[in-house]
Amino acid sequence: MRLVVLSGAGISAESGIPTFRDALTGLWAHFDAERLATEDAFRADPALVWGWYRWRASMVAAAAPNAAHLDVAALAGDGHALTVVTQNVDDLHERGGARDVLHLHGRLLASRCIGCGARITPDPILAAPSPPDGGTRETPPACAACGAAFRPDVVWFGESLPADAWDAAEAAVDACDLLVVIGTSSLVWPAAGLPERALRAGTPVLDINPQATPLSSRATAHWSLTATVGMAQLRARLQKTPDDPRRVLAG
Ligand code: OAD
Repeated sequence: MRLVVLSGAGISAESGIPTFRDALTGLWAHFDAERLATEDAFRADPALVWGWYRWRASMVAAAAPNAAHLDVAALAGDGHALTVVTQNVDDLHERGGARDVLHLHGRLLASRCIGCGARITPDPILAAPSPPDGGTRETPPACAACGAAFRPDVVWFGESLPADAWDAAEAAVDACDLLVVIGTSSLVWPAAGLPERALRAGTPVLDINPQATPLSSRATAHWSLTATVGMAQLRARLQKTPDDPRRVLAG
């Protein structure tokens, strides 16, 4: 079967990475993710925003893929054609063994100069010392070439998605037999449009999320399960009926 897995922050929650719409703590308690994840926020207070991303990057570097990441990757080994489309900026799908991973929102473990785009090695977003638990404000390094600040290599609100990843995601969704949406609030566009596109084309969509989202009632099936439990169930059902997505969803 041709499968696309569209993942969000919920798939990494069981690896200890807070989701975006969890209440923020510590220094960032008075913000929400959408107020930190913009170029305006960075320009207004670079140390606050850089410190937040440095803290998230150190958490990701110390985390391990969980059983859901491993089960997603294992779908390819089970004989399915698999494309992973992720909104996540971590690298846990890749470390879980997935090969074909499209990052719609960039990468957390990399940074670049906001002025000239320069990159340096080792990447300053991973520099020692790691931020303390709970994070800290930190002035971003200045670019040796142009003097502007380094910024995380993620897509901020108001910025375009990488066109090659987006085009490949749409093509994979158009070609798939089943779209599995896992661990996303389905609130952020254009990513939230991919399941709508699949549904319009008559492709079955499975939503795995312990909470109902705007997608849940529209999806072909909503499994109110965590990512690890939901992926284990999906793999087991696909092993029984590897060629019939609707029977997989019906159980
Ligand atoms: P959100 O934080 O909006 O949503 C996380 C979803 O994961 C929620 O619907 C939770 O119910 C669900 N969830 C929590 N624990 C789970 C678990 N153990 N198993 C499965 N699901 C679980 O994260 P995203 O939908 O990924 O964008 O957010 C989308 C985008 O908004 C992010 O990529 C980021 C953010 O701002 C940018 O940075 C551009």
